Formats: sequence, structure tokens, C-alpha cells
Amino acid sequence: MLKTAHAQTPSAPLDLVIFGGAGDLSVRKLLPALYMAHLHNNLPASTRIHALGRQPWDREVFLGFVQEKVTPFIAAAAREGDTWQRFLDRLNYVCLDATQSADYQALGQALQNGSDRVYYLATAPTLFTEICAHLASADLIDATSRVVLEKPLGHDLASAQAINDEVGRYFQESQIFRIDHYLGKETVQNLMVLRFGNTIFEPLWRSPYIKSVQITVAESVGVGSRAGFYDGTGALRDMVQNHLLQLLCIVAMEPPVSLDPDAVRDEKLKVLRSLRPMTVADVARDTVRGQYGAGASNGESAIGYLKEDNVPGDSGTETFVALRAHINNWRWANVPIFLRTGKRMAERRSEIVIEFADLPYRLFTDSPRQSVNRLMIRLQPEEHVQLQMMAKEPGSGMRLRPVNLNLDLESAFTERRAEAYERLLMDVIKGRLTHFMRRDELEAAWTWVDPILEGWAQLNEKPKTYTAGSWGPAASSALMAREDSAWVEEA
Ligand code: BG6
Repeated sequence: MLKTAHAQTPSAPLDLVIFGGAGDLSVRKLLPALYMAHLHNNLPASTRIHALGRQPWDREVFLGFVQEKVTPFIAAAAREGDTWQRFLDRLNYVCLDATQSADYQALGQALQNGSDRVYYLATAPTLFTEICAHLASADLIDATSRVVLEKPLGHDLASAQAINDEVGRYFQESQIFRIDHYLGKETVQNLMVLRFGNTIFEPLWRSPYIKSVQITVAESVGVGSRAGFYDGTGALRDMVQNHLLQLLCIVAMEPPVSLDPDAVRDEKLKVLRSLRPMTVADVARDTVRGQYGAGASNGESAIGYLKEDNVPGDSGTETFVALRAHINNWRWANVPIFLRTGKRMAERRSEIVIEFADLPYRLFTDSPRQSVNRLMIRLQPEEHVQLQMMAKEPGSGMRLRPVNLNLDLESAFTERRAEAYERLLMDVIKGRLTHFMRRDELEAAWTWVDPILEGWAQLNEKPKTYTAGSWGPAASSALMAREDSAWVEEA
């Protein structure tokens, strides 16, 4: 008889299986996150972690690899004592070629009897369906099994649907965890609390009291060693289709009736489905593609994208996108939504800025006309919320100057703040789906993104070059200026 879903049997051992277990994501994020969960006693005692890879290693070699490559991503102080050794005791390595059915027999033998299984697919998405099929043939999936799918899930709507169809043959929707690590960030989750755990914002959180919304996810790093993946992907698919649209969903959604996964995801889906589809003319007017040229980053000179390793010298891939979106519903009618993301920008900064309406009448005519109230939600690197208010400048006359009400979350709370991957992995283990994307959400996001990709293909223009270390091409500021807005770029 099949067991019921999601670890309803707390006594069953847990096997966490990472496909791509010696890959970049596993080394930099997954294993460090699992270690932190282990350190804080959040991993069930019987958890075994199986890293899978093609390297012909045995367990000892893999442990040496972990010691060398994973430890730099864990604070030394956190590895003191025998906790680290006890973590290593949980680790196993299985040499597996994901395309070879025979190798799944060896995997089956490595798993504990009667265990609950979590399969984390940190591989190229082209392998997802094959892995699921092989797991099923080897009889390694039951009703308690869960599968975690890393982004990018497809490169357009059709490919995303094909992956979803195939994975759906072996796993129920309630067993599928489509991960977007932005949904695991403390401040992103806090945004829900800011909106729905306070009363003062909600009456104003709409047209015409909000003039515009801007969401920036700026990175100072370049493409690094990931050009092989990135050059075929670009910023729209890598960042906007998932992270930025998910942030937008949380900013724009209606209050859900509960925190039940489907209640939250239903509301996010409505936002995605309300995005106004772009025509080619909209794409030409309302989107900006950029690509970084040589410049400086963090005080050091930086080469341009076209000179990066493994980037073709004539690549037309965008490393920057800015665009103006609209949400077709009552709450957001006529409120432009500006999204922007890029690599090699002036600094690493993720921020949401809610710009409230202008004063209906200017009483204080001594002051220059300027933006009045803004709510600025900084997600990283610092976590804080600022509300810009106008105050009187000391002295004679009635001149106004903006000052910020400051909510510094890092100093307000002394509790440990877990990294996004740690929090999301714990959600997977506990079977909590709220912070994962449902199939229809993912497909609605692609439905909106596809016409932009098609518009770019038809327009056939090269991305605009911007200097590494800047805030992107000038056209991105012009996009805002047309709406009488400007990107907030001051510290
Ligand atoms: C990943 C993208 O999803 O997010 C990367 O593939 C990007 O290109 C990264 O660098 C940014 O994540 P974070 O958490 O550093 O903002």
C-alpha cells in the first residue's frame, strides 16, 4: 500500500538525493544550507544526503571534495566541534550517469529501507524528464516522494509545458517543488507581512494613491564562469521570468484568504494572468536590452561581456533588461510597473520602491517639486524598509526636505537569519508548498515573457552597450522619464 504524501510518517528515515551533487549549486548553496540546518538541529535525525554525479569517485574522495570545495561557503566558526564530522557522516556519494537506467539500481541500493525520498534536480533542465522516468522504472517513487526542480524550467512556454507534462506523469502536483530561491529570502517573505500584517498600507496600496512601482535586482558581478549557460539564456529568462515576476506578484497580489499554499498561489497567479500582453510595438517602446561593455566594478577594471570566457564575440545576449509593465485590474489601473535587472551594475542591490502619488495641491511653493512619499524595501545586501516623508527644513521659511522613517530589520531582530536555500529545503522536507511555484504560475509567467522574446527577435536589434559598473544604458532612464519617474539610485 502506498504511504500518504509528505512525511506523514515522522519515524520514516529521510533520503535527500541531489542530482548534480558535485555541481556548482550543490557546492555553493545546497550542501552549505543543509549543513546549517544540521547545525541547528533542524534535519531529522535519520536524514542521509546522497550526492549524485558522473565523477567516478567513492565516498572518501567525495568527502575530500566537500572538505576542500564546500567549506569555504560555511563560516569557520560554524564548523567548530564535532558537528561538522557528524554532518559528513550523513553524506554519501553515488556515481551515476543520469541517462543510464542501470545506474538507478545502484541508487536504489544506497537508499534506506522504507525511507521518504526527496529528489533535488540540480542539473540541466534537459535531463529532468529522463531522470523522473528512470526513477519511476527503478521503482524509486512513491506517494511520499518529492521532487525539487531548479530553474530555469524551460526556455519558453512550450518547453516549460513539455517538462511539466513529463514530470507530471510520475509526480502529483503536490509532490513537485519548483524552486525560486527569491521566495526563500527573509525579506521577501517579510513583504507579505508588511502588506498583510499591518493595516496602514492596504488602503493606499492601489491606484491612484500609488504612482508607480519599481523593482530593481542589480548585481555587480559579471557572468563569471557561467557563460556556457548564460549566453543561451539572457537576463529576461534568467531573472525576470522568475525572480522579478515573483517579487511583483507579492507586491501586487490581493490578500489571500489564508497561508494555505493554494490560497497564496491562486492570488499570485491572478497577478501573472493580469499582466498586459505586449505587442511588438509595446516591446519596442517599453523594453530596453543592454549588454555590459568594459568598465570598472568594485574598484577594479572589468572586461566587457563579449570578452568573457566562452562568450561568442558577436553575442547578442542581454545582460540587462529594463521594462515597463501594466497590470490590467482595478487595483493597478494606470500604475506603471518598472522592472530592471542586470549584471555588472553599479552595486549589488535588490530593492522595491513604491512611489506614492504627487500632492494634489502644492501649498509649500518655496520647495522644488519632488517626489513626496516613497516606501523603499531593500532586500539585499542590507535588509531594511524606509518610508520617505517630507519634513520642514529648520530655519525661517517653509521649505520641505525628505527624511526617512527607518526600519532596520537586521538590528531589530537578533535571531539568526537563515539563507534562502536552507529555509526552502526545510519547507521541502516538511512538505510546505507555499513558497514554491505551481505549474499554472510558471506557465502564466512564460505566457507573458514569450511575446517579449518574440518581439526582440522581430525587431532584431543588438542590445545597447552600457559601461560595467554603471546603472545600465541611458535608454533605461529615458523609459522612466517618459512617465515622469526616475530610478531610485541613491544609497
Ligand atoms: C540566479 C541567477 O537565479 O540568481 C543568477 O541564475 C543570479 O544569474 C542569481 O546571479 C542571483 O541570486 P542572488 O540571491 O545572489 O540575488
